[in-house]
Amino acid sequence: MKNILFQGNIIEQRKVVDVEDRSYQFGDGIYEVIGVYDGKPMLLDEHLERLRRSASAIQLTLPMALSSLKSKLLELAELNGLREGIIYLQVSRGVAPRWHEFPAPDVDPVCLAYTREEQRMTDIEDNGAKAILTEDIRWLRCDIKTLNLLPNVLAKQKAVEHDAIEAIFHRGKVITEASSSNVFIVNDGQLFTHPANNYILNGITRQKVFQLSDRLQIPVNEKTFTLNDLLAADEVFITATKLDIVPIIKVDDDRIGDGLPGSVTKRIIEQFRLDVKHLTKNQCLHR
Ligand code: PDD
Repeated sequence: MKNILFQGNIIEQRKVVDVEDRSYQFGDGIYEVIGVYDGKPMLLDEHLERLRRSASAIQLTLPMALSSLKSKLLELAELNGLREGIIYLQVSRGVAPRWHEFPAPDVDPVCLAYTREEQRMTDIEDNGAKAILTEDIRWLRCDIKTLNLLPNVLAKQKAVEHDAIEAIFHRGKVITEASSSNVFIVNDGQLFTHPANNYILNGITRQKVFQLSDRLQIPVNEKTFTLNDLLAADEVFITATKLDIVPIIKVDDDRIGDGLPGSVTKRIIEQFRLDVKHLTKNQCLHR
């Protein structure tokens, strides 16, 4: 039986969540998805730091220090024998009778984590995939990784119904990101991606791509681009935890470039794979 992390303790999985947990009632909480490759989590510190920022943005006090949370997550992955997959981590505002405002007096946040085996989709990385376009109907704090994912869920479902891997969001004419990934275009050997502001989640994989591009001396522009720019781009790719870097070769009915994964995208994927091969338990972006 797999274990889960629940309120600071690693326990055998069982039904632990209360019906009055505010994550059920309001989506009142935050989460992270951390990729694990050959038993090693990628950029765990960066994910935990983003969790801290999300918590602070919704005025939630994390129930334990990030360093303790980190050791618990490593212990959980180890105990569950996780080789390839993800660690899912969630913190809700806690359990209280259903009133919209924060519980008073304060209740303890509910922090849980579990692991899931997931194989890497290297064939999609090699061959590319289709995406669709859809209007970005989300709120104006997409930088917070909250549990409120209904617009993302609806967009992803629409993608699946159109045999696409992702739904790329546009706010008016501007491309923001996708339902569960960030979007890059390549033009004349340079990358363009939406700036990290309130309209997108600042993806950890997105930041990893910045590091790899720097190494490859590929210029990165954090600048908005339009629907037309996307369709006319030399290359398009998306990034997210465990999906990694996926070339987008078709958007709705339009072919991107020559309809094959582009050379710049391929070079970045190659570097990413090299880093995965040499991953250590404490790999960070900025050290
Ligand atoms: N989603 N944008 C959105 C809206 C996302 O939900 C995600 C990730 C990303 C990419 O972020 P990162 O590179 O840190 O994974 C961008 C996760 C994987 C999910 O909800 O399952």
